[in-house]
Amino acid sequence: MQTVGIIGAGIMGAGIAQTVAGVGLDVVLTDISLEIAEKGKAGIAKSLAKLVAKEKISQADADALLARITPVGDYAALSGADLIIEAATEREDIKAKIFEAAGKVLGPDAIMASNTSSIPITRMAAGSPDPARFCGLHFFNPVPVMGLVEVIPGLATSQDTIDRMKAFGEKLGKTVVLAGDEPGFVVNRILCPMLNEAIFVLGAGIGSVEDIDAGCKIGLNHPMGPLTLADFVGLDTLYAIMKVFHSTTGDPKYRPAPLLQKYVEAGWYGRKSGKGFYDYSGETPVPSR
Ligand code: CAA
Ligand code: NAD
Repeated sequence: MQTVGIIGAGIMGAGIAQTVAGVGLDVVLTDISLEIAEKGKAGIAKSLAKLVAKEKISQADADALLARITPVGDYAALSGADLIIEAATEREDIKAKIFEAAGKVLGPDAIMASNTSSIPITRMAAGSPDPARFCGLHFFNPVPVMGLVEVIPGLATSQDTIDRMKAFGEKLGKTVVLAGDEPGFVVNRILCPMLNEAIFVLGAGIGSVEDIDAGCKIGLNHPMGPLTLADFVGLDTLYAIMKVFHSTTGDPKYRPAPLLQKYVEAGWYGRKSGKGFYDYSGETPVPSR
């Protein structure tokens, strides 16, 4: 494997690009426009500059890593990719269109993978050119730091595709776990209901934003409180995930918290939009309300 195409240059696409280029592979990065793909690359440059300042990486290595990432404005350049990773917005209609369009340039031996947090892999594979070469490949945020990748085979995914995705995850220095094609796979099936529950707890007035976060951070020894983590993931993404859980299983325990819906409807998407449960406009985040 030498070239990886990444579709979606947001939080996850940029993090995956940085990680993939960090092990010497070439990355072709695309989004809905060349400008957004370039913005994704600029974010990676900023993140690398911090690592250079902390002397975690040399300036020469940072420059070489960046030079391996090519932002593009259309899918033609993905035809040379050995693997295409879709990391676009968590919406099945958007992803279906991407698989249809990218499927037209997918090489005869190349794999198509989705970084979806929740959408069934088998269902998306059915709209790809070769479901045997389609797989879930679920990274964790922030990708350069988090040590896990879930490999999620769909019904038709071949053993060869599974083996190549496991080897790819390991090449990136990650621990790879296999997860079943059920909503949320393994980790999000456990994490996302907890984050959603924290929002129910806030909505019911059982605790303040700060007390819920301090309670879980200190009481459970988690690196971030659940509301901070929800903001970090993106409230639009968490809401989309809970809607998939709810609609796919029909189980009311997965209904999105009404307050989560309200925040998303207000455009309060968390850290990426500057406001969620916290306001990120100042030097230190403060609760939004
Ligand atoms: N690239 C490379 N390294 C980076 C980096 C980047 N973009 N960002 C941070 N780092 C490194 C830092 O250099 C630092 O390294 P050292 O410890 O060697 O100095 C280390 O990562 C920690 O960074 P910080 O000191 O800046 O921050 P921190 O100690 O507060 O940790 C955190 C930040 C790693 C995000 C931590 O708070 C954490 O683990 N939070 C929980 C994250 C989590 O749960 N993620 C999963 C979300 S769910 C998901 O992803 C799935 C889904 O589908 C929704
Ligand atoms: P994000 O909002 O930061 O970025 C999404 C990107 O997709 C945006 O840049 C957007 O312009 C782009 N996009 C939208 N429509 C597109 C299209 N038709 N073609 C190409 N690009 C398009 O979201 P994110 O957090 O990076 O999430 C991306 C995917 O990764 C989602 O499926 C999400 O569920 C999954 N995921 C997210 C996290 C997380 O913690 N945020 C963790 C693991 C997996």
